[in-house]
Amino acid sequence: MSFSKIANSIGASATLKLNAEAGRMRAAGQPVIHLGGGEPKSKAPQSAIEAGIEMLRSGEIRYTPASGTLAMKDAIINYTANYYGRQVERANVIASAGAKQAIMVALMALVDPGDEVVYPVPYWVSYPEMVRLAGGNPVAVYAADGSFQPTVQEMIDAFGPRTKAVLLNSPNNPSGRVFDRDFLTGLMEHCQQQGVFLLMDDIYHRLVFDGRIPVPCYDCTDLSVDDANLLVLNGVSKQYAMTGFRIGWAVGPRDLIKVMSNIQSHQSGNPCSLSQQAAVAALEGAQGSVSRLGQELENNRDELVSLLREIPGLNVNSPEGTFYCFCNFSAFDENSTRLAAFLLEKVQVVTVPGIEFGMEGFLRLSYCGDIEDVREGVRRIKWILDEAGSNELKVGDTVFTR
Ligand SMILES: Cc1ncc(COP(=O)(O)O)c(C=O)c1O
Repeated sequence: MSFSKIANSIGASATLKLNAEAGRMRAAGQPVIHLGGGEPKSKAPQSAIEAGIEMLRSGEIRYTPASGTLAMKDAIINYTANYYGRQVERANVIASAGAKQAIMVALMALVDPGDEVVYPVPYWVSYPEMVRLAGGNPVAVYAADGSFQPTVQEMIDAFGPRTKAVLLNSPNNPSGRVFDRDFLTGLMEHCQQQGVFLLMDDIYHRLVFDGRIPVPCYDCTDLSVDDANLLVLNGVSKQYAMTGFRIGWAVGPRDLIKVMSNIQSHQSGNPCSLSQQAAVAALEGAQGSVSRLGQELENNRDELVSLLREIPGLNVNSPEGTFYCFCNFSAFDENSTRLAAFLLEKVQVVTVPGIEFGMEGFLRLSYCGDIEDVREGVRRIKWILDEAGSNELKVGDTVFTR
């Protein structure tokens, strides 16, 4: 069978593949520990559940405007006013099927074949593929000092005549890094000067730790929402534990939002009406679930980091937000794909190879699941990586051998 060039250039999402593999192993009764996941285990907010049930009961589940219902847009406007300090209008807002679709339609709106989109390393696994899907060329920027944040100069050195956009994600998947104000302001200034769009992926927005407040990216420009080359992306998936509802959004200049809406109207139509109803209720209802989730993740982060730091040779950065810890395991194996496969085979722990995020030698460990799973996963990793340890490790009825 012959497929398009685009189809042939796209691989399956590494994280979704791992989820499927972990599911298969669990179904076969194996005591697999999944530290590769990307969704909080908590329940959706009660307000969202009730709003969804009410709409379902009505039996009136209809098309909505392609860019979202008025109630959805108003909830996004309120969120933007509350957490970014910017008053925007309905024309500045589009709701999509997850932040993923919002990013994708933004790229399709901005990128011509052969144009470039720049992003820092480590990056979210989907960015390179999404840029390719839009016909563009991905340009990954490494920090010369090996850190998780290139300098502004390193970023703009990667700009060329075909650069159309920069994709930034903060708090960052996979590093947990929260980019600082100077970095965002410096980058925004250069984007504006050079006619490049800054796509700010804030999907983990308020999941930050140690009393941090995420820098509202609108603080990084004096220009109006319609004049700034800034598109802010967010959604209910992570903060509200509503991954399956598939509601995300973008806020930006009305001209860009208009063409994104045109594209979306032909691509998928509107985001699911039932999910919009639930998302509005989550955004406008009590916000306790977000702060509880943040606190729980911070506790998990503390425990994971302290357990990992007991493993000699491991270089552990403490994440500032999200629910991922990106660790340098190169003292054990430079090849992260091989190491992740080894951990899965030997001790049935799922991790994500750093190479999928552009950094070899690292593994991403998630701490969004049960703390018991986090403890057990690290116990097994510690055991298998310690060559001087015992020959066997007993887990319930299963015995792992070296
Ligand atoms: C950095 C980043 N951006 C966007 C998304 C997509 O979010 P959504 O579920 O809203 O499509 C994810 C999901 O894992 C992510 O990690």
